[in-house]
Amino acid sequence: MKVLGQWGIGKELDNKHFAKNQGMELLRRDKGPSLGHLVHYYGSEEHFFALGMLPECVRHGKPAFKLQHGMSHYNYMSDMTTHPYSESKMVMGSSQHLIGSNERRREFAQNYIHAMACISNLTLLQDHEGINNVYEVYPWSSCAKLVDVGGSTGHFMASVMKRPGCEHIQGFVMDLPAVIEEAEKRVNDLGLSSNRIAFIKQDIMKPFCSLDLHADTVTMKSFICGFADEDKVSALKNCKSLFRGSGRLLIIEVCSPNPGDLNHNIGLNGRQNGFWNIHMLSACGTSFPSLKEITDTIQEAGNKAGYKLNQIYNTFPGGYTIFELFTQ
Ligand SMILES: C[S@@+](CC[C@H](N)C(=O)[O-])C[C@H]1O[C@@H](n2cnc3c(N)ncnc32)[C@H](O)[C@@H]1O
Repeated sequence: MKVLGQWGIGKELDNKHFAKNQGMELLRRDKGPSLGHLVHYYGSEEHFFALGMLPECVRHGKPAFKLQHGMSHYNYMSDMTTHPYSESKMVMGSSQHLIGSNERRREFAQNYIHAMACISNLTLLQDHEGINNVYEVYPWSSCAKLVDVGGSTGHFMASVMKRPGCEHIQGFVMDLPAVIEEAEKRVNDLGLSSNRIAFIKQDIMKPFCSLDLHADTVTMKSFICGFADEDKVSALKNCKSLFRGSGRLLIIEVCSPNPGDLNHNIGLNGRQNGFWNIHMLSACGTSFPSLKEITDTIQEAGNKAGYKLNQIYNTFPGGYTIFELFTQ
């Protein structure tokens, strides 16, 4: 508490007493997605313990999380039946449930959903006038049937569909079953009539049974960079069955500064790019790529999966970049 107070989070009073302040309010987790969810996720024992496996991760090119917990962080959160946690590794952390227990995994997953929504809000800067954000730089009104793969609770999809000129868009949010179950419970929070948006439980790494969505546009926001190269290609290939013949795929990602660029090393809203790099390595076994690296990766994976990179749309510094690909 003393250290937090010195950082402006809470205020130290006399006699070992502390008072709340605005900094502390930002950490509350009972009023929708907040910085508190981010701190809880990135500072979780699950991720903290995984950091101990970083040397192995670098040596073997496998995510430190997987080396520590025996499964990917997505499986940890959403796949308790086929990925049971080793009882010998269960220890007590800050939660009332043992790390690795099903209760703890569900708690971790719930927090993750809010953490992703919070970071997405910080990077979209949706309600800030005059900012060249994702909404301004892309002609969203040209979409008719839009699928957001890895779309979590549908907050991004809904924000696009509520843009002026986008009232005709039909939206589909695709994610892992456990995430979609949560999303369906919160559909009313999206502020859309329920006939405009539908949720699909689908692991994009597994081939789909016919969905017949006939989408014209598929988005993947903060999604593809978290996968190994061969998985990127599989995801892009599987995604082609969402289109009616041809279509466009929008890969939306944040890029780290290009090598040698020391001016943009601290990302927007104080996001520390150095930390981000280590987190990506530990959680996914991948790097946090620069614009050049991600362009090369998307071009290569896209070509293998049958797409052609058409155009790149940049937003404000530290914000998202949209990579527009067409099926070929
Ligand atoms: C980093 S979050 C991004 C969420 C959201 N797109 C955003 O920008 O806030 C990645 C999302 O991908 C989902 N996901 C991970 N693996 C997946 C898979 N194999 N198939 C479908 N969704 C997956 C996760 O459940 C999570 O919601």
